[in-house]
Amino acid sequence: MRIDVVSIFPEYLAPLELSLIGKARQDGLLELNVHDLRTFTTDKHRTVDDTPYGGGAGMVMKPEPWAQALESVAAAREGSKPVLIVPSPAGEKFNQALAYELAEEEQLVFACGRYEGIDERVIDWAQEHFTVRPVSLGDYVLNGGEVAVLAMVEAIGRLLPGVVGNPESLVEESHSDGLLEYPVYTKPSAWREHDVPPILLSGNHGKIAQWRRHEQFRRTAERRPDLMEGFDAGVLSRADRTAL
Ligand code: ADE
Repeated sequence: MRIDVVSIFPEYLAPLELSLIGKARQDGLLELNVHDLRTFTTDKHRTVDDTPYGGGAGMVMKPEPWAQALESVAAAREGSKPVLIVPSPAGEKFNQALAYELAEEEQLVFACGRYEGIDERVIDWAQEHFTVRPVSLGDYVLNGGEVAVLAMVEAIGRLLPGVVGNPESLVEESHSDGLLEYPVYTKPSAWREHDVPPILLSGNHGKIAQWRRHEQFRRTAERRPDLMEGFDAGVLSRADRTAL
């Protein structure tokens, strides 16, 4: 996969050189390029923003530097239409299903807006060259798209083949099956008056699996009742019904 990120703060994306994503880049599993939007300006002051038509607070990102930047990254791969992700609190909500979907793409381009956002005409114009998806991390407002890109690239990048050493760990994690993950414990079994649940020391793998499933349902119902709505009692497996 190839990822291009356009930002006025390219240094913000430095953490993508670390850990699993950094290693994936070194290993050639992921090509990630960060571009400074200001290099696509033509004036002496490298201006990227201006006052909003219609008035109001703050500044809006000018369209032309964005068009220049996006044209330059889209041209990098002739033929296919890359997905342009525009992080915005006004976008569709990012989740694990979307991470899986985007992990299938050949090229993703992230356009990090700042200030009050990017001139809307960029979004309209970009449809010719990209599949455009405004995406929100959640119902809160960040100062810009960069932090959202860090989160999305990590969530997507770890799903690429070979990035996570043991692909089994992608199976039993929160959201992989629509539920939150079960709690985990390690040695020592007795620690500061808190013991590991005895079932986990029993060696009975069937009972352990049942307990873990039960914990998944219990946690999900308690912390994220909204996720439980996706579970139709009629389609639950017998083991799931026992866990409930
Ligand atoms: N930019 C500002 N707020 C955001 C959010 N909640 N999600 C994605 N991008 C954003």
